[in-house]
Amino acid sequence: MNVNMFSTQAQHPTDYKDAFLKLKKEKQAILLAHYYQIPEIQDIADFVGDSLGLARQAGTTSADIIIFAGVHFMAETAKILNPAKQVLLPDLNAGCSLADSCPPDAFAAFLKEHPDHIVVSYINCSAAIKTMSDVICTSSNAVKIVSSFPPEQKIIFAPDRNLGAYVNSVTGRNMVLWNGSCEVHDILTSERIIRMKAENPDALLIAHPECKAPVLALADFVGSTTALLDYTIKSTATRFIVATESGILHPMKKANPDKEFLIVPADETCHCNDCPYMKMNTMEKLYLCLKNESPQILMDEETIRKAARPVYRMLELS
Ligand code: 13P
Ligand code: SF4
Repeated sequence: MNVNMFSTQAQHPTDYKDAFLKLKKEKQAILLAHYYQIPEIQDIADFVGDSLGLARQAGTTSADIIIFAGVHFMAETAKILNPAKQVLLPDLNAGCSLADSCPPDAFAAFLKEHPDHIVVSYINCSAAIKTMSDVICTSSNAVKIVSSFPPEQKIIFAPDRNLGAYVNSVTGRNMVLWNGSCEVHDILTSERIIRMKAENPDALLIAHPECKAPVLALADFVGSTTALLDYTIKSTATRFIVATESGILHPMKKANPDKEFLIVPADETCHCNDCPYMKMNTMEKLYLCLKNESPQILMDEETIRKAARPVYRMLELS
């Protein structure tokens, strides 16, 4: 197939897939994808995982080009771990409401108000916030990272108030929380879940820790996307109510063809809970970004150097 033909003609999505895979082989690139990506992208990725798994893969790959099917902070983390490599993000507008809820200037002022605190930041933040942090965590290692500090250590946790409150409840800490949240998880209500549980009394509720405390209080299991997926595989239960983004249902159904999964919808008008940023990536954009080697993540050396320190500290601790 002649890949140049794509610039002049509208193509069927399958053609983009084939052309992308051909180009990926030619350029010896690697495709990393988050579980919230559309099924078609997950199915052709070299690695699909949660934020920690993706950071680990980005840190160990020998490929010269990393195509990141996720959102901006994830691709930025891959660049921080691989300054010499090209990190491509199919759509630079694929941001994150949680990362956006923590502007660097306001955060710097907040840190000045708490001079004797160390800073633990969730990986869902900008590189600028990472440069102001002592250590990064993800939803799969947040409890472990926070517990690695002595109980008397004063800690600021940013930017997710829900994950921070959850870690406080598990560890008995009293971390100061930045007031940020993820629009996809924060919207889920305990009222809706109580109704779903009443209608499906045999189903277990599994929830991501970016959900609010009343939702997490109802959950049979709380964990990162990878932890939720693993739980559905190991559990003897056959029906699950899932409180996170809809994309996770694809690997859950693949791994458990005989089990049933009910997503907690964002509101009364829909049957899904999609992250608008994660869903910006398409097969066409994947193909075009690899063909053009653009858009790519570009960062200045000093930001990379300062942001790398807390990211490597996380990888050592987890
Ligand atoms: P994890 O996949 O690390 O659980 O993170 C979920 C998320 O919201 C990513 O943006
Ligand atoms: Fe950000 Fe939430 Fe989307 Fe994850 S699901 S990328 S935290 S907006």
